[in-house]
Amino acid sequence: MLQAIALTKYYASIPAVQNLTFDLKAGQILGCLGPNGSGKSTTVKMITGLLEPSRGRVLFRGEDIRRDLVGFRKNLGYVPEEPNLYPYLSGREYLEMVGILRGIPQSRLGKKVDSLLALLSLHPSRHSAIASYSKGMRQRVLLIAALLDDPEVLILDEPLSGLDVSSAMVLKNLIRALGQQGKAIFYCSHVLEVVERVCSHLLILRQGTVLASGPTGDIQKRIGHASLEGTFHHLVEDVDPDKVTREILDIIRAA
Ligand SMILES: Nc1ncnc2c1ncn2[C@@H]1O[C@H](COP(=O)(O)OP(=O)(O)OP(=O)(O)O)[C@@H](O)[C@H]1O
Ligand SMILES: [Mg+2]
Repeated sequence: MLQAIALTKYYASIPAVQNLTFDLKAGQILGCLGPNGSGKSTTVKMITGLLEPSRGRVLFRGEDIRRDLVGFRKNLGYVPEEPNLYPYLSGREYLEMVGILRGIPQSRLGKKVDSLLALLSLHPSRHSAIASYSKGMRQRVLLIAALLDDPEVLILDEPLSGLDVSSAMVLKNLIRALGQQGKAIFYCSHVLEVVERVCSHLLILRQGTVLASGPTGDIQKRIGHASLEGTFHHLVEDVDPDKVTREILDIIRAA
């Protein structure tokens, strides 16, 4: 459904992503993992068409997304890393605007928006300005906006960011269910525990390059660690978290 071919992005002369290739098929949930600064969001911005790659291409159903970005985006639901919403609109107004731009018929839109707002516990504040929303409330508005038009491709950059326990649980279940329905889902995170449980495939990045990719179980087996945490530390992490913690405590305590 969505293919990245040798994607590369330089910021000035510094490479953020290098030679990234993957093939996201319908029904797959591809977890993109990597430490801070490893190139996850840069990848997301390229595969949503927001950022032009320095090299490489993104194909949707075999066609370069840049040949028809508007057409591609009709099939795309995107949760960005930063919840940049219009602060002066209410949650309901924002979602209605998204629905209208996406061409959802007015007759269905209001009911759909109200039902989703209610299910994500936003109904009481639906008429308040987004400026007054908490971080988790903004994140829920973003999620509704991404799902509203039942897109074929979902691209989620840290979608659980700021969500409380029950909203996070609903979202994890939803992602799994949408995968089973045949959606193609690209899920960026550094929360290993979630990725492990939700994603059928993994793409592990470090300093903009792919360290490992393939079915989640295969990667774990290949590395020989029972949990993804072990796999991840084996592949990616240079730091010893216990040692760093001790050193920070020593410095804080020092007179
Ligand atoms: N607009 C930009 N201009 C210059 N450098 C950038 C820009 N955006 C990202 N970078 C650099 O590219 C690299 C990858 O950043 P990116 O945001 O893709 O990482 P990430 O994996 O999403 O990290 P995080 O887990 O913190 O969200 C980093 O070194 C970052 O400093
Ligand atoms: Mg990021």
